[in-house]
Amino acid sequence: MLILGIESSCDETSAAVVEDGRRILSNVIASQVTVHRPYGGVVPELASRQHLSHIGPVVDGALREASVELSQIGAVAVTQGPGLVGSLLVGLCFGKSIAYARDIPLVAVDHLEGHIRAAYMERDESAPIPHPAVSLVVSGGHTGLYLMKEEACYELVGKTRDDAAGEAYDKVAKRLGLGYPGGPVIDRLAEHGDPRKIPLPVAKISDGSDDFSFSGLKTAVLRAIREHSIDPVAEGEDPMGRTDVLNLAASFQKAVVDALVSTTKGVSIRVNARAILVAGGVAANRQLRSEFGRLGEKLKVPVVFPSIALSTDNAAMIAAAGYLKFLRGEFSGPDLNAEVELRLGEGGERRSRRHL
Ligand code: KG4
Ligand code: ZN
Repeated sequence: MLILGIESSCDETSAAVVEDGRRILSNVIASQVTVHRPYGGVVPELASRQHLSHIGPVVDGALREASVELSQIGAVAVTQGPGLVGSLLVGLCFGKSIAYARDIPLVAVDHLEGHIRAAYMERDESAPIPHPAVSLVVSGGHTGLYLMKEEACYELVGKTRDDAAGEAYDKVAKRLGLGYPGGPVIDRLAEHGDPRKIPLPVAKISDGSDDFSFSGLKTAVLRAIREHSIDPVAEGEDPMGRTDVLNLAASFQKAVVDALVSTTKGVSIRVNARAILVAGGVAANRQLRSEFGRLGEKLKVPVVFPSIALSTDNAAMIAAAGYLKFLRGEFSGPDLNAEVELRLGEGGERRSRRHL
């Protein structure tokens, strides 16, 4: 069963052909980073325009790379939300049109479930992920912790009260003149800095909840920049030569990673988790991966990360999540609309209407 997955929730236009929810035949991604870089973040209006010009060639490219014809596709899976409305609508309408024209099922996918399914789709079938599992989704727009008593069943137990983890990376990077997106560059620089030189508070909520908060950390970074008179990296300057920037990057990253790991650890112990999953763009972070690896050893549970390529936004994960809904017969009709605030696991996950 071949599914064509389409993802356009933020600033990546992606299409993929995936067989039986696991075997990736193609996963084409058109990135818009160069368009948004001068602004230090995603400009929604520019993003939708970019999606409009990329969506056709990206879908064509995915079919070509997979060496399949549209007539061989059994269903279309599209990201319904959460995300930017203009961006979502481009992929959604394109997917709807294909499903309608070919008379094949249309499946609406929650972007966050897609991130989580990326961790499942690469897992060897002979070693299924045990449950209950705790899933941390950390991306540019979302930071949420989910209890999964069983596969594909999500209960939100903690989320960010302000900035998402990736958003904090992007804002700090912008302030330090490191460009957009901030995560990969801070990841690289942090490795060469000493976090003890400019200590920052761990980004932790103190009311005993399992929520996160990163805006206080962002303010602490701004204060440190002032107190240590740290100038932003100038255009053309090599940040590797800037010890102050390297140390601040290391300290910031440590604060983020400590918060994510310690809250996930607390929840995992409490619910007796048998596995921990970490997904979303920030899951590409090397320090996060190694600290979670250590946590897994300590708790004696497997920690599952998608490969780096499937951690950031892509359509293969949407096709994988769509396959589950396809098997359950959860199809959408031509009235499917984008849901900017689709909330996975928040009591009554909104599911698309059954289309018989
Ligand atoms: O999941 P994603 O591709 O898009 C959203 O759904 O938001 O995540 C993008 C976010 C950006 O904020 C980016 O800075 C962050 O993921 N990111 C990273 C790394 N690679 C990407 N953050 C930390 N370390 C990385 N290596
Ligand atoms: Zn994402």
